[in-house]
Amino acid sequence: TLKPLCLYQGFWCFPYYAESIILGQKYYKAEPSDIFVCSAPKSGTTWLKALTFSIVTRTRFNSSSNPLLFQSPHTCMPSFHRSFSKKLDIREPGLPLIASHTPYASLPKSVKDSDCKIVYICRDPRDAFVSLFHYIAKVRPKENEPISLEEAFELYCEGKSLFGPFWDNILGYWRASVERPRKVLFLKYEDMMKDTTLNVKKLAEFVGYPFSLEEEQQGMVQKIIEMCSFEFMSNLEVNKNGISRLATNVENNVFFRKGKVGDWKNHLTPEMANRLDNIIEQKLIGSGLTFNP
Ligand code: A3P
Repeated sequence: TLKPLCLYQGFWCFPYYAESIILGQKYYKAEPSDIFVCSAPKSGTTWLKALTFSIVTRTRFNSSSNPLLFQSPHTCMPSFHRSFSKKLDIREPGLPLIASHTPYASLPKSVKDSDCKIVYICRDPRDAFVSLFHYIAKVRPKENEPISLEEAFELYCEGKSLFGPFWDNILGYWRASVERPRKVLFLKYEDMMKDTTLNVKKLAEFVGYPFSLEEEQQGMVQKIIEMCSFEFMSNLEVNKNGISRLATNVENNVFFRKGKVGDWKNHLTPEMANRLDNIIEQKLIGSGLTFNP
């Protein structure tokens, strides 16, 4: 259930996370080479992590030695909140990637002030909600009462969800990307699905690892897309049966459900969809950001 969440700096998170935010804001020294991989939960974090990791490390591994074949994307890069409470230098040696669900406003000042890059993925909130609901159903402690779709929906609409309100999480990064387009790349799950090649190339260029013509001719972009695809990743043994130590032990398969656009239509009543549409419209008004119906 959402009971253990606390409201800290305007967003809902677990208490241990708030602690790491405080430490991060105080002590984290961003390097210009850092790449922050950010998202609201259930927006395509796993996918973005896999893609960014593959792009950045593509000259280090061949198609059989890539760590993504043996580890969940979530263990391939340090997570800001998981690591910061334990040690201050959280970077993996030689890997500039750090993942975070922290809203933009609560990122350490050094991250915002330095030349490091931030990539953010968002998703149609209707699908993100449905995904979150299924995720919570799988990972909630067994002793907790199950939460119904209706209850979870109510909380979501009130802004009470992990790292939410969802609209603040999205808008923080959206506005930052409008103000500082060379600093923050704002991606949408739906666009990535529609034209994966274009967006993967954009991502590679943005983080400073553009594909050379030679790489493109050798099919490197397509190889990365294929390896990071839902079909491929969800069928890897490690993602079917493996377990990762995240905040707690989590079965890797909880991060792979359907991987489709528009699954909300199978779960939300027209009334629910309408209510969420209205909230989205109201909250995003004037921002220039929309989610197509
Ligand atoms: P669904 O529950 O709609 O299937 P996150 O990674 O932010 O936790 O989000 C999880 C959502 O992304 C789930 O959505 C999951 O199926 C989907 N997903 C996971 N890996 C993916 C991939 N490689 N490509 C596309 N979608 C993926």
